[in-house]
Amino acid sequence: MSGEKCQGSKNILLIGFMGSGKTAISKCLQRKYRRNIIDIDEEIVKREKRTIPEIFERDGEAYFRDTETTILGELEARTNLVVSCGGGAVLREENVEIMKRSGIVVYLVATPETVYERVKDCKSRPLLKENNNVEFITRLMEKRRSNYESAADIVIQTDDKSIEQICEELMKKLFE
Ligand code: S3P
Repeated sequence: MSGEKCQGSKNILLIGFMGSGKTAISKCLQRKYRRNIIDIDEEIVKREKRTIPEIFERDGEAYFRDTETTILGELEARTNLVVSCGGGAVLREENVEIMKRSGIVVYLVATPETVYERVKDCKSRPLLKENNNVEFITRLMEKRRSNYESAADIVIQTDDKSIEQICEELMKKLFE
């Protein structure tokens, strides 16, 4: 099925747990593949003119999730994008349906240990604020695993690989 997965100008949507490499891979795809990128978290911050921790703090997670769904929905009409989705975007069935309609869904997988190494110094993720440890990450990842797996068209393991390697592997899978 030569080129089938990426036929036409379908969007590529990156999903996966916090710290799975979605933002870094989207930037790499942008360079190599000349696609525009949209980072849903960044769009939310721009639109709301405040940080994600501020949104969670003042208006709660449900408000954040509603904004996430609105932005994802708006992207459905666009093509040729690499979309980096927040780690919790797969929690709503409605979001997964939008993703499936708008392009190829790529699940970036990392172990809890790898995730922890990548996020341990980061203060911008409210869900990890008081829980930035391997045990909590393991539990939350397990809870979400089936959401990620059932949404995915392509799965890529990211542990012990460079951004460059992951990007190459993904491009091969997209065009095989
Ligand atoms: C979240 C992941 C974050 C961000 C928000 C909630 C989650 O995005 O959307 O903090 O529920 O997993 P990243 O996966 O880009 O860190």
